Amino acid sequence: VFAVVNFKGGVGKTTTALNLAAAWAQHRHRVLLIDLDPGATLTKTLGVPVAEDNPSAPTAYRLLTGKDHVSLAEVIHHVAFDAGDGEALALDIVPANRHLASIVFSIHQDPGWGLVLGNALAQPLAYDAVVIDCPPEGETFTYLALGAATDVVVVVQAEVGAVWSLSRVEACIRNMGRLNPGLRGRRYVITMINPRTTVARTLVAELRREFDGQVCDTTIQRTIKLAESMMARQPILTYDPGGEAADSYRRLAVEIWGGAEGAR
Ligand SMILES: Nc1ncnc2c1ncn2[C@@H]1O[C@H](COP(=O)(O)OP(=O)(O)O)[C@@H](O)[C@H]1O
Ligand SMILES: [Mg+2]
Repeated sequence: VFAVVNFKGGVGKTTTALNLAAAWAQHRHRVLLIDLDPGATLTKTLGVPVAEDNPSAPTAYRLLTGKDHVSLAEVIHHVAFDAGDGEALALDIVPANRHLASIVFSIHQDPGWGLVLGNALAQPLAYDAVVIDCPPEGETFTYLALGAATDVVVVVQAEVGAVWSLSRVEACIRNMGRLNPGLRGRRYVITMINPRTTVARTLVAELRREFDGQVCDTTIQRTIKLAESMMARQPILTYDPGGEAADSYRRLAVEIWGGAEGAR
């Protein structure tokens, strides 16, 4: 179970969650995405029809709250993409809507709230990997994801100051590590990089110094193709399979899978 995190928005978390999931699905792994962002970028990008204002819609909200917790199976939607040659790339997703935001007011009444998502996933799953997309704001959601995860994927945008801004993420991982001993894997992914720049080289060196051995060798370059693919409601792997960005995400997926605690 992979939690994709960073408390900065717009760094490429959702893009990375979707494309790691898509790359693993192409390797014939069964992958479940969980949208834990009340902004529901992933849900909307994948075109999952969810009523925005309906608290009882089958979403992550229903999985996490209420006296009548629903089962995981009841909130799963199937999506498929045309991968060419008559092949389909299939993913399952637990979608989000904006009601998810309201759980921060109620969930803390349960002393064991940090493990609520973990408990919902603590059953024999029909998946080889679960990828949880976290929102930038609201530590509650990141804690919930880390409470369920075996591996955390920290997405870092290649910009000045990126390393300092990670201290909140580090604190969350430390705190949740005590509650969830299964959380052992940690990888840093650098996105939106313009590899030839000094900023990029400095950031990569700083990150490697700070998080020795945990920074992925594969970086994701800045390219408009990734924004285009999201607008086309597709992973880059089906939108532009021959392009550089698809190639990077495929390599990243192999690299992260190879070092993951949770990968079977
Ligand atoms: N490597 C990249 N190069 C260029 N644009 C990107 C890249 N990764 C993501 N984007 C775009 O940047 C925006 C923010 O990305 P997103 O994945 O939604 O970030 P987050 O989930 O961290 O808020 C989106 O419009 C997305 O299409
Ligand atoms: Mg996002």
